[in-house]
Amino acid sequence: MAKRRRNEPTASGSKDSFSRKRGETTLDNAVTGGLGEIRLMHPPGTTPITPASMISIEAIGSHKHLLSGIGIDWGSGGGCLSIMAARTPGVDRVVGLEIDETNLSVARRNARLNGVEEKVAFMHSDSYTPSADGDRRSLELLSGRADFLIANPDASKDDDGFGYRRAVLCGARKYLRDGGRVFLSISYQYGRRRIAGLERDVPGFFHEGILARSVCVPFDLGRTDLLNCLKVYAREESRGGLGYEFCNPLRRSQAMNARDSLAFYERTGRSPLSQWQTHLFRYFPDRL
Ligand SMILES: C[S@@+](CC[C@H](N)C(=O)[O-])C[C@H]1O[C@@H](n2cnc3c(N)ncnc32)[C@H](O)[C@@H]1O
Repeated sequence: MAKRRRNEPTASGSKDSFSRKRGETTLDNAVTGGLGEIRLMHPPGTTPITPASMISIEAIGSHKHLLSGIGIDWGSGGGCLSIMAARTPGVDRVVGLEIDETNLSVARRNARLNGVEEKVAFMHSDSYTPSADGDRRSLELLSGRADFLIANPDASKDDDGFGYRRAVLCGARKYLRDGGRVFLSISYQYGRRRIAGLERDVPGFFHEGILARSVCVPFDLGRTDLLNCLKVYAREESRGGLGYEFCNPLRRSQAMNARDSLAFYERTGRSPLSQWQTHLFRYFPDRL
């Protein structure tokens, strides 16, 4: 029988209720910030709901007053963030862009399951380039009209791990209206200087703070994807790039960069600590 757990700590460490059984997660009304219960299927082979997804869910639920009109969800996966946004009363429409076909079919099913299929359109798309002509035309019509963007991108691999975030913001300039909002998932370890640097890297965007964050949690190096991220970060530091910021799990006040964290893990088997976070940016193209 499927394992079912209630009242597990959420990503932020609170005891709001969500339940998870194999391939399915139910978020209750407290977790969605009053947007009602949401049921999400995530069968094997689709993008899972991670602690970073949970913090983005919390950011939308607790700041739903910031979302209205038309939005884009970059890398919509199984649709959790699109569905949260679509449940927000002032939101008229959400377009989810997703490169993986299996995720797309699950996202469409999840939208139906949660009664928001009329408000959400999921498009097969490589970043902002949908594959189907009709979808390309629909997205083109959003130029300069999108009120918000939500994104919980993966870490990039061939640079400092932050490249997808820069690319997501860069591409969003075409679609966001003046004053448009961005809910961007960026965890603590990227470091304050790299996060602040987005304003310089992608002119037009202004950082307005953190919408939601977890408590300090292990950056779980038992997860191969996170171990690979740490190796990318350590390589970036070795070639002179900006440092990353973790905390020592044995002495939380002690900061560790990526290279120290990797050496510490190899020595002790302990993961360094970080925080999952969702940040708010505004787009003001004329304020440059
Ligand atoms: C970290 S997951 C986030 C999924 C979901 N939004 C969430 O928060 O749980 C990133 C998603 O981006 C998608 N993705 C990666 N590269 C993409 C690209 N070039 N264009 C569109 N989607 C992409 C992945 O398939 C994945 O579903």
